[in-house]
Amino acid sequence: MQLINPWSSQQYKDYAKLRDQFGIQEFKFDLPDAPPIFRRGVIFGHRGFEYIYRSIMKKEKFGVLTGLMPSGKMHFGHKMTIDQVAYYQRMGADVHIAVADIEAYASRGISLEKAKEIALEEYVPSYIALGLDPERTEVYFQSRRIEVKDIAWKLSRKVNLSEFLAIYGFSGETNMTHIFSPLIQVGDILHVQYEKFGGRRPIIVPVGVDQDPHMRLTRDIVDRWRMFSISPQDRGLGVFYKGEDVRKKLERAREMLKERGYKKFEMNIPYKALYILDAGKEDYLEVESTLISLEEEFNPNVFYPPAATYHRLMTGLTGGKMSSSIPESAIFLTDTPEEAKKKVRNAKTGGRATLEEQRKYGGEPEKCTIYELFVYHLVEDDSHLREIYESCRSGERACGHCKKEAAELLGEWLEEFHERREWAKDFVKNVVSWD
Ligand code: TRP
Ligand code: SF4
Repeated sequence: MQLINPWSSQQYKDYAKLRDQFGIQEFKFDLPDAPPIFRRGVIFGHRGFEYIYRSIMKKEKFGVLTGLMPSGKMHFGHKMTIDQVAYYQRMGADVHIAVADIEAYASRGISLEKAKEIALEEYVPSYIALGLDPERTEVYFQSRRIEVKDIAWKLSRKVNLSEFLAIYGFSGETNMTHIFSPLIQVGDILHVQYEKFGGRRPIIVPVGVDQDPHMRLTRDIVDRWRMFSISPQDRGLGVFYKGEDVRKKLERAREMLKERGYKKFEMNIPYKALYILDAGKEDYLEVESTLISLEEEFNPNVFYPPAATYHRLMTGLTGGKMSSSIPESAIFLTDTPEEAKKKVRNAKTGGRATLEEQRKYGGEPEKCTIYELFVYHLVEDDSHLREIYESCRSGERACGHCKKEAAELLGEWLEEFHERREWAKDFVKNVVSWD
């Protein structure tokens, strides 16, 4: 079986297969006022997004957390993550972004000083310029936040080495900081549910699909520390409890569930179970959030299972992965319009070898990096996008025409963005938390 390696430069082709293989759910939510990537199949999968959907629709509290490695320059692949964060912020979420300096140190040998410089000068101004509200955003460093590191060593008591080897395929040569770094990421994802950072609540983690192993790990760990669990029964929902004082805890659960409107219960102490007979699958989230608030009273390691969405990884303009280490493959947010236009001119398209063949057979937008730029970033209007797609397929469109259009849109966007980025520099100090 294929593993997903978060540190490789692997490109994935068949996302549906990936989804099935790893038990990722298809993303099919119809979100209010969401950016185009949510409806264009770019965000193609999720785990546990139901909680977030519910929070958005009911205007209830939720948070967003993601992290970026401070290595190299920020490019359009990274922009996609921040676009999603900005959307959730508009929908009321509080925002936390990790500077993954421990991970950069562990996996790329970047010093903490260098990471700090890159984060403050390269990344954070762009976060703000991309639309994150400086009053409601915090950016912190993994290496400086004690709660992150505490979760890493505490909660990993319920994880063992074989499991790690199975998830990540680490070898005997992998350095120990690197092996430890996924647990730091678990700390990133969970610590924002501590009281100090907003309390127990649903958290959404928007990431590229290469991060799925970390999400699986985090959600498994959360599960292992839970004392209550819920499972659907023939009649209603079953609540199970695995700690001390079974009777007392289940009675307390019943009491709290009654306050939420449930009326019919059956208690079975030897089974450590409480059945809610007038609840169905659709009550799952409501029941679980009730039990989490109860469990909070005596279990310091209780958390909402974090939700994740997965986006496709952008193809590099040269065909492989979009990567900071191959400058021609990526459009950097700090590229001048001229530099960016040049990269667009040289980009790999899905066009045929000659214009004649193009007219005859049509192009292949599915394989085209320019078309990808339109879908992910440059074309807001769905009907215009469809027009591009169809005229490419039918052979009416020539790649030169597309490249010109992409270069123009990109140039305009960058010009405006660079102005905002200058303005944003003054706000870096407002968003950075030093501990
Ligand atoms: N591992 C991520 C990357 O390589 C960065 C990261 C660190 C992160 N902590 C996180 C992502 C928490 C999401 C949530 O890009
Ligand atoms: Fe890509 Fe446009 Fe060429 Fe089609 S015509 S392959 S969309 S550049």
